[in-house]
Amino acid sequence: MPNDASQPPELTDNGTLGTEALRLSEARFRAVAESASDAIATIDTKSKILFVNRAAEKIFGYSIEEMLGQEITMLMPDYLRHVHKSAVARYTETGHKHMDWARVQLPGLHKDGREIPVELSIAEHLEAGEKRFTGILRDVSERVESEQKLTRQTARIGLLQNVAVASNQANSVEDAITAALPQLCEHTGAVLGHAYFLREGSPVTLIPSSLWYTAQPDKFAAFRHATEVLELQLGEGLPGRAARLRAPVWIRDIDQESQFVRKSECLAVHLKTAFAFPIMVKGDVNAVLEFFCDQHREPDDLLDLMASIGAQLGRVMERQRSESSLRQLSARLLRSQDEERRRIGRELHDSAGQFLAALQMNLSALMDSVSPQDASTRLKLSESLDLAQQCSTEIRTLSYLLHPPQLEYSGLVPAVRWFVEGFAKRSGIDIAIDIQSDLGRLKDDIELALFRIIQECLTNIHRHSESKTASIRIITSDNLLTLQISDQGKGIPLQQFRKVARTSGVGIAGMRERLAQLDGVLQISSDSTGTVVTASIPLVP
Ligand SMILES: Nc1ncnc2c1ncn2[C@@H]1O[C@H](COP(=O)(O)OP(=O)(O)OP(=O)(O)O)[C@@H](O)[C@H]1O
Ligand SMILES: [Mg+2]
Repeated sequence: MPNDASQPPELTDNGTLGTEALRLSEARFRAVAESASDAIATIDTKSKILFVNRAAEKIFGYSIEEMLGQEITMLMPDYLRHVHKSAVARYTETGHKHMDWARVQLPGLHKDGREIPVELSIAEHLEAGEKRFTGILRDVSERVESEQKLTRQTARIGLLQNVAVASNQANSVEDAITAALPQLCEHTGAVLGHAYFLREGSPVTLIPSSLWYTAQPDKFAAFRHATEVLELQLGEGLPGRAARLRAPVWIRDIDQESQFVRKSECLAVHLKTAFAFPIMVKGDVNAVLEFFCDQHREPDDLLDLMASIGAQLGRVMERQRSESSLRQLSARLLRSQDEERRRIGRELHDSAGQFLAALQMNLSALMDSVSPQDASTRLKLSESLDLAQQCSTEIRTLSYLLHPPQLEYSGLVPAVRWFVEGFAKRSGIDIAIDIQSDLGRLKDDIELALFRIIQECLTNIHRHSESKTASIRIITSDNLLTLQISDQGKGIPLQQFRKVARTSGVGIAGMRERLAQLDGVLQISSDSTGTVVTASIPLVP
């Protein structure tokens, strides 16, 4: 052995190895140590390196000569050195281990100053009565790196997933952005997140929104105030740049930027890094999200992620737009349906109704001219008069059902009473009406919507529920009108229930549309004991 390197364990006769056996055992240890790919080092209780193998040179960058005789702490970052020393001292004194010797992961220190994650296991033996510690150190940089990469990827997927779920559940773009901002802040380490919206026109302007996320609202109140009065042009400021580039923009060091619009405001609250990315709808920028960090932050693989999130939120905007144009379309459809009904109703009343009235008059005149002896002609004429009378009544009912004139002239309550009375007769269903006595007149479009909803619900009860009873209630409280129509029938089959939630147009979906036009909502609860349809409409005083 060229130096005072470690000796393998020594046993006396009652446990000692002889000199030859000792030499052999030591040679075996060296052979194993030299061929090992893990670093192996033996130290004494003063932490002095007594033996170190070739692999240690590779891992730590020092030569064996540079390490031998030095303290093992040279291979540790500063902050671990005294922890190590006191741990060795404590162990030597008390036998108490401060960590798991079998396997522990620690940072090591390379000669070039870089920290390297190493996995360490420690064994102890006696050499001439002295304690020796042998450590096996494995460089686990690659493993740690791939673990970190996996963690980052998992977090990234988690973020995309969360934003997707939140976007799908959001009722508006604002909701989707409000849900996305805190998640993006958390993922990127930003302390502040905010949205700008683009306003079309010439020039296109970026308008600051009131959508923010921060965990420290007080700290950033002034910054927020300064931003909320700051409209920007394309290319101007961080959001303007992201909007013009139509891609994420990353500013690692705000301080170094000569043209950062809110530089002094950022520096006043110690914001160091800023980044922004556009929300794209069909290739156009619709909004820009901007973020600020109070530490310097590298983009790493975040730019890519920002672009994906921008596209994701863009899809929400796209959906919102098509939903709103669909809503406008169905509003127009409902309106023209109402107008058409009114026209047909009037037409039936005015033309067919008038012709029938004329026919009745002619038949009466004929009756007067037929001799009382001509019994068979008189019978035919009388039957014809009855038929004409019935026909006239039916046409009037049909005309009124298509558009009840009472609705316009006397209001909802008389129209509902008239309709319910006729409906009860025709269907045989017993219908109770309970309408708040001081309801009075409502706006035309509200009265028409309520009437149509009652018509549709009663028709549904008759067609689908098999109920013999139903009730209608209308009450108002706190400027909210509630219409409730209940039956005691068999309930809406689950499959149908799901379907009506998704479709638009006629029936239940049509009721929903009508209410949506009035900022109202429709709720349906149904089970095997019956169905309750509740429509609520805000009344603007
Ligand atoms: N009061 C009710 N009791 C039981 N089932 C009902 C009731 N109201 C609706 N349904 C069920 O819900 C379905 C959807 O009703 P909806 O009014 O939307 O359509 P519809 O009545 O079938 O057709 P239409 O478009 O002519 O109104 C019905 O087909 C029926 O199965
Ligand atoms: Mg129906």
